Amino acid sequence: MSKKTKRIIGIIISLAIVAALCGGAVGIQYIFQFGGERSREIWTGLDEFKLDYCQSIEMRAGAEDFRVLQITDIQMNFSRKTDNAAFDLIEKLVDETKPDLIIMTGDNVAGLINGMNARRLVKFMDSLGVKYAPVLGNHDGEGLWNSEVIGDIFAGGINSLFKKGPGNIRGVGNYVINVTKDGEVVYSLIAMDSNRYRDYPEDMSGYVTYNGSGYDCIYPDQIAWYEWVVKGLNRVCEREVDNLVFMHIPLVQYIDLLSGWDLGKDGPMNGNNLGLFEDGLYRDGIGSGRVDTGMFAKALELGCTRAFVSGHEHTNNFIAVYKGSGIYLEYGTKTGRNSYSDADMQGGTLITIKSGEPYPIFKIIYESSL
Ligand SMILES: [Fe+2]
Repeated sequence: MSKKTKRIIGIIISLAIVAALCGGAVGIQYIFQFGGERSREIWTGLDEFKLDYCQSIEMRAGAEDFRVLQITDIQMNFSRKTDNAAFDLIEKLVDETKPDLIIMTGDNVAGLINGMNARRLVKFMDSLGVKYAPVLGNHDGEGLWNSEVIGDIFAGGINSLFKKGPGNIRGVGNYVINVTKDGEVVYSLIAMDSNRYRDYPEDMSGYVTYNGSGYDCIYPDQIAWYEWVVKGLNRVCEREVDNLVFMHIPLVQYIDLLSGWDLGKDGPMNGNNLGLFEDGLYRDGIGSGRVDTGMFAKALELGCTRAFVSGHEHTNNFIAVYKGSGIYLEYGTKTGRNSYSDADMQGGTLITIKSGEPYPIFKIIYESSL
């Protein structure tokens, strides 16, 4: 190794240490990150939709339902004790629910060494022998490795269905999984990257997380891709195919849904909310992006999305129907103790899709019940 190379490596390590000391994983992304490549898949709305664009997973022979275990916000952070406890919890959830697929709704990893955490997580997930489908959260690409690298690591898992998706639209990890029965599509699961942070104008300065930014959202090019997928599926299958959309950061409609509900109480406390509450707890704020880019309206227009399934808030896991829409807005149940959490609301959420029925059935599984 030449002197110059050693000096450059020394500078990088020093900057990393300074960044880590100043702001940890959050700080370092503004100074230095190992970057990966954008996906080479290029999508245009003029492309012909074909079924093989999607991945598929066949229902078990003779089964009438398809079991999706949602785990979320594991935030692996190289804290061996809590990381391993999260692994133990996931193993128990898998034993209990016997899922056909595990979806991971983001913030799967966090921290300065996010890439190493992602590799360890993938190794663990592969050991379960169940297909899994992650989406990225705001924390996954925070640290020494950016979202592209984390996406590559997730895509490399033996049982992982993660795909980076089109490289010319926003996000890393817009992809589709179809549930099939005897080879015919019965349901569709659409993964979307809700991105990370965005700057807000000054009149919204009350809503910032740090560095003048707030949480991000789904962008119009992603919505156009979603529309292309839904319409393409309907055309190819010659009927309307029900779907659920999973992402990390909740849509802004979650805020509307809860207007009039009292934060800190376990459920709706008065009648002027916009939603029909089914299950779960509401103890956290709603960390959605503060702009409505039209995703929910597009879902309403297309009429095939039965649920939005999110993560992000660790002490919300409610399941509610947005008034008049027939669309569920759902939060997963925090999996593991990393970052903030409530001891009595750890676990996962089982989402059961029944063949021929548009709506899935949600069941919260708490760690204490395992
Ligand atoms: Fe998050």
